[in-house]
Amino acid sequence: MEPCPSVCILLLLCLGRSANGGKVLVWYTEGSHWINMKPVLETLVDRGHQVTVLVPSISMFMTSDQSLFHYEAFNVSLSLEVFEAFLDKFIHFTIYEMDYMNYFQIYSKFMDLLKINIQFSLKFLDGVVKSETMLKKLKGDNYDMLLADPIFPGSDLTADMLGIPLFLSLRFSVAHNWERLCAQLPAPPSFVPAVLSKLTDKMTFSERVFNFLFYPLQDIVMEKCIWKELDEYYSHVRGKRTHTSACEMMGNADIWLMRTYWDFDFPRPFLPNFKFVGGVHCRPAKPLPKDIEEFVQSSGDAGIVVFSLGSLVKNLTTEKANMIASGLAQVPQKVRKVSSFYKYEHCLKLNWELWATFNKKLISGKLPSIK
Ligand SMILES: *[C@@H]1O[C@H](CO)[C@@H](O)[C@H](O)[C@H]1NC(C)=O
Ligand SMILES: *[C@@H]1O[C@H](CO)[C@@H](O)[C@H](O)[C@H]1NC(C)=O
Repeated sequence: MEPCPSVCILLLLCLGRSANGGKVLVWYTEGSHWINMKPVLETLVDRGHQVTVLVPSISMFMTSDQSLFHYEAFNVSLSLEVFEAFLDKFIHFTIYEMDYMNYFQIYSKFMDLLKINIQFSLKFLDGVVKSETMLKKLKGDNYDMLLADPIFPGSDLTADMLGIPLFLSLRFSVAHNWERLCAQLPAPPSFVPAVLSKLTDKMTFSERVFNFLFYPLQDIVMEKCIWKELDEYYSHVRGKRTHTSACEMMGNADIWLMRTYWDFDFPRPFLPNFKFVGGVHCRPAKPLPKDIEEFVQSSGDAGIVVFSLGSLVKNLTTEKANMIASGLAQVPQKVRKVSSFYKYEHCLKLNWELWATFNKKLISGKLPSIK
């Protein structure tokens, strides 16, 4: 399976005019969303396009030190400490609190967090669409398109204000809320399991009923915590007399670049402006360091598990770490293939070491060469 080259070519064909080179404006993002976006931008630069990245004055991952891209910095009236403290709270909720709560408690807390999140997101957006300096600059620069990961809202509004096409790149939204309601992607609940419902495409009757209810429940949450706020904000920015539906605006995106692959998710209908670009951030494999290579070779046919907590989780309680380790211990291949207990422990220990190195390097702002 080699999705990378073909997908990159597809992406570039979509951008067109590769002979002249286009001017691509890139929406700000954070964490793994930025890590995933960067290799795509590097490829665009390789092919002769000019890439300009919007960078907020506070950011954990986006830095303007790479000379490959142009940068357009904007002001955010929020401190990084406050933003990071919020993210820590969110992570704490998902890792340590959620499992001990009932549905009502989960939703009530989740909605509170979403409401804070949207307020923060709007503070970021203020720096672009409410800054005359910024808007003037962006308009004057005559971009050909805006490429955005919609995790931070407002790219659709900005593309509309600049009068340029919008390309969205995302993995998924909760229960496909954005894809379904804004981009009109069909999702029959009888056979398309909602994202995050933990269901598969093999559902019993009661699971189907649960799935059927899960969609509207998420839609209500999104409407109350996100769309309502965004509608108000967008309407305000575009002039109070017209009501703007932020979801409708998102639906105006020209292309949805989905960071998955047709055989990776459960089968479902797609629309022609949805393109699979899963693995677009892949790079050709590099040789492993000697000790890791030995470890991989010693694992036999079963292979190894590479475990990552993503870009934002920096630490775990011992209890949680042990819980994950005991989960990994149940992976069938390992249990079958690794017979001696000692070897088995060694395997887990090494994985944890790998994990620790991975995180240390991330904290110091660099990605390790092995992932
Ligand atoms: C950011 O804030 C500074 C100081 O207030 C101001 O001079 C500058 O124009 C602002 N930049 C943008 C892009 O709005
Ligand atoms: C993780 O680190 C943060 C500070 O960076 C600290 O507040 C938190 O208590 C730590 N959590 C665990 C589980 O060690």
